[in-house]
Amino acid sequence: MADGGGALDLERDRVILALETSCDDTCAAVLTPGGAIAANVISSQGIHDRYGGVVPEVASRHHLELIGAVVDDALATAGTSFEQLELVAVTCGPGLVGALLVGLSTAKALAAAYRLPLAAIDHLHGHVAASLLEPNPFEPPFLSLIASGGHTLLARVTDPGPDFEVIGQTLDDAAGEAFDKGARLLGLGYPGGPALERLARDGDPSAFEFPIASKVQGLDFSFAGLKTALLYRVRDLGPDEVHRRRADLAASYQRAVVESLALRVERALAQTGSSRLAVGGGVAANGALRERLAKLGVTLDVPPRELCTDNAAMIASAARFVEPIRYPDYLALDVYATGERRLAA
Ligand code: KG4
Ligand code: ZN
Repeated sequence: MADGGGALDLERDRVILALETSCDDTCAAVLTPGGAIAANVISSQGIHDRYGGVVPEVASRHHLELIGAVVDDALATAGTSFEQLELVAVTCGPGLVGALLVGLSTAKALAAAYRLPLAAIDHLHGHVAASLLEPNPFEPPFLSLIASGGHTLLARVTDPGPDFEVIGQTLDDAAGEAFDKGARLLGLGYPGGPALERLARDGDPSAFEFPIASKVQGLDFSFAGLKTALLYRVRDLGPDEVHRRRADLAASYQRAVVESLALRVERALAQTGSSRLAVGGGVAANGALRERLAKLGVTLDVPPRELCTDNAAMIASAARFVEPIRYPDYLALDVYATGERRLAA
């Protein structure tokens, strides 16, 4: 549940505590103001596997049960205490409203009890800011590809603050969702991305032709057609043939998702003249995507896996670059759902 603690100087260091509960991971992290991770605790609920996706109400209830222990664990791992905090940071959206409310309410209570300021963080700014963490901060300007189960976007990042420019996003499913839905059609469990990648290793990526939405102009992504193409292919082949050719189907499908992402990245690099690319979100764990992007010949930053998937260290990282809200002004703060407005800078 917990991972690495950095050595804190308890006499000197004032630290940031961050909470992230936008989906099904209950996360707390402790960060030094310089961007070194002292603790990054992630409790994955697991419970949603049986439903084939995240059930919002179940996620909220689990956050409520876990958040106290996860915060305690983060402070203990960092060897610090509430008295040592200088700032509490929390994800306010986009995400599942009930889930976000657990994190925000907890953050408000902690910050108010110690009269601390609070930093309200946009989840996507968090994903971008994962690249800014020590020990190898990737300095802006760069192009950022965020691909996860909930979002897929391309952003032009010119400074570390929340004002990055979104230049492309998905018109329908997110890339991770495309992996999950494809995996489901092939009879794999949830979340499907890692399982589909494993199966694809034994398959031929050119066995089947799947659409990569190359006709969608510009920098936006679309995965709905791809998912439907797999659905029809599975129906046409029939159960026995699908079973026999599962690995080929997985490899060909994965290739289509990867190509679809890489095509937009190539367009965006050409359009912005950038030669620096940061990748984040759960799909960044995909080996085929990493290999494909590594061939682009740009300076590439892919943070370690635990910083690509949802985590609170990235939220703490973003908090260093937003204006904190003073006590008690943040008590009226609200969350916002997926698809709603972003926080004003
Ligand atoms: O960032 P993340 O942990 O949570 C969200 O914010 O959604 O991303 C989870 C998503 C899931 O859709 C999962 O299937 C996908 O990332 N994923 C992968 C891989 N590992 C996780 N997709 C493809 N290949 C992987 N190795
Ligand atoms: Zn995310």
